[in-house]
Amino acid sequence: MIKNEAEKILTSSAKSCGIDDIFSVVFSNMPNCDFQCNSCFSIAKKLNTNPFELAERIVKNVQSNDLFEFSVARPAFINIKLSQSGLKKLGEEILTRSYEKKKEHIFIDYGGPNLGKAMHIGHMRSLNIGEALKRLYKKLGYKVTSDIFFGDWGMPLGLIMAMLEKEKTLAKYMSGELDLNIDVMNQAYPKASKLKDEDNDFKKRAEQLTLNFQNKKQPYYDFWKKLREVSVKEAKNVCKLLDADFDLWNGESDASDYIDTVISIFKQKNLARESEGALVVDVAIEGEQIPLPKKSPDEVQRYDNPMPPLIIQKSNGGELYATSDIATIYYRNKLYKPDVIHYLTDARQSQRFTQIFRACKKSGISPAKQQLWHTGFGTMNGKDGKPFKTRNGGNVGLLDLIDMVQAKVEEKLKQNGTLYDYELKRIIANSAIKFADLSNVVEKDYVFDIDKFTSFEGKTGPYIQYTACRIKSILNKVANFNENFAFYTPEQKAVVISMAKLQAGYETAFNEKSLSSVCNALYDLAKNFSTFYNAEHIISEQDINKKDIKLTLLKLTLREIESACEVLAIKVPEKM
Ligand code: ARG
Repeated sequence: MIKNEAEKILTSSAKSCGIDDIFSVVFSNMPNCDFQCNSCFSIAKKLNTNPFELAERIVKNVQSNDLFEFSVARPAFINIKLSQSGLKKLGEEILTRSYEKKKEHIFIDYGGPNLGKAMHIGHMRSLNIGEALKRLYKKLGYKVTSDIFFGDWGMPLGLIMAMLEKEKTLAKYMSGELDLNIDVMNQAYPKASKLKDEDNDFKKRAEQLTLNFQNKKQPYYDFWKKLREVSVKEAKNVCKLLDADFDLWNGESDASDYIDTVISIFKQKNLARESEGALVVDVAIEGEQIPLPKKSPDEVQRYDNPMPPLIIQKSNGGELYATSDIATIYYRNKLYKPDVIHYLTDARQSQRFTQIFRACKKSGISPAKQQLWHTGFGTMNGKDGKPFKTRNGGNVGLLDLIDMVQAKVEEKLKQNGTLYDYELKRIIANSAIKFADLSNVVEKDYVFDIDKFTSFEGKTGPYIQYTACRIKSILNKVANFNENFAFYTPEQKAVVISMAKLQAGYETAFNEKSLSSVCNALYDLAKNFSTFYNAEHIISEQDINKKDIKLTLLKLTLREIESACEVLAIKVPEKM
């Protein structure tokens, strides 16, 4: 990489001055400077010399080269400007950049809808972020396996059964006399969920029915399978709507056969103790205090008591969400042996995952060399700064939210007089949702602002799509041209540099497990492209060489925008 060339030149200049140290180079945000080296400060300190003089000495001794111009800026920065051939080289490098295959296998667990209940916006964030991280891992060369991990083994399906039983239709649905479909489930669940809070007998019955299918008691277990099938089909449709896809569509139920095994592992290793009839595993670390999430960055850090023990078995013998997760790690390790398992959930589940991970490490269910990651994302808030809710205070349904955004996009398409079909509306709405969601630092809450998100201008998904469409329409007008990387104007240069920054953004995103660096760099690229586009004639350029250069830049920019959109799971339309 060209950045490494600059590092090599500086490091070897230092060597010729008798200094054996590494001078690293980063992108610069200063005008008139493309890269910079900040190493003189720390190295001068080590050598006990003046940093500015050190920088001057290094720059003076730099061997002649045709890629960069080096200069010193106070207090002790080395500014690095690409020469024209440096810029050409960078352009070619962007074109040929590829990522080596890595040997690590990352298993990613995201989405996690609960069958029987309508998906809400928390599941949408998990789907957006998880899908993008999965695609990022693949792009960077990792082997990846994805699993949606349905919540399919808990109370909701038991509640639906109890409701149908109460309405005297259960037997008919079981026998197939009545046709079970998603509408039946969507109607039964909210009624049942309300009733369980008012009628204790009903709640008890739903718990019993849940235990029945968990214990594979017939005919409940077969009916549970039917309920699962219908709601999995629905969940797959929702995922498709959001352009999310999985290798495995497993769930908590797939772990049920391993529950007894993992409980006996804890018992055998003397890691489990009884507490009020339940079985618990101690996961606290002596002297540890848990930092409480801050409401604002400048709030003083407060701490909670040490980690509470993890309950792995309830007093009634019913299965627990945490135990399902542990048993899932157990069988994933048997079947797939991943090097990393990465979970994406709402940040409010962070402590739970810390407990689970510790329990798995203590018991050896997760081998020492395996990494377990949890990324907890913030909530999507309404304009009042509180979690986004419906008018009557309920969770906002994922499908309702998508409908809302699609309707807004439709309004804009009509205003602009654009010819559109459902697919165009869908992919623009998705880009609005996804770009807004992914451009935030992952742990942070953000405010749902439909007008801002769907705007075709500014830092939005539709603006990125629009930029790509503009390029496509120009490229469609030219038959063919010769690739030429001899970029020569400041506007062209800014576009090339922002493509290089976008490529660097993928590694940052990997380190941060957040796509914000990719979104920011993608937006800068689109913005710099617009500046170039407004400043220079392209189709009407008379000089054939210059025209080739501009078209090469267009082609490269489109390629980079499209590949970033591919990572974010944003589709680029032909026209909009
Ligand atoms: N079903 C869970 C929920 O709705 C999310 C599942 C997250 N993944 C996991 N492996 N526990 O909160």
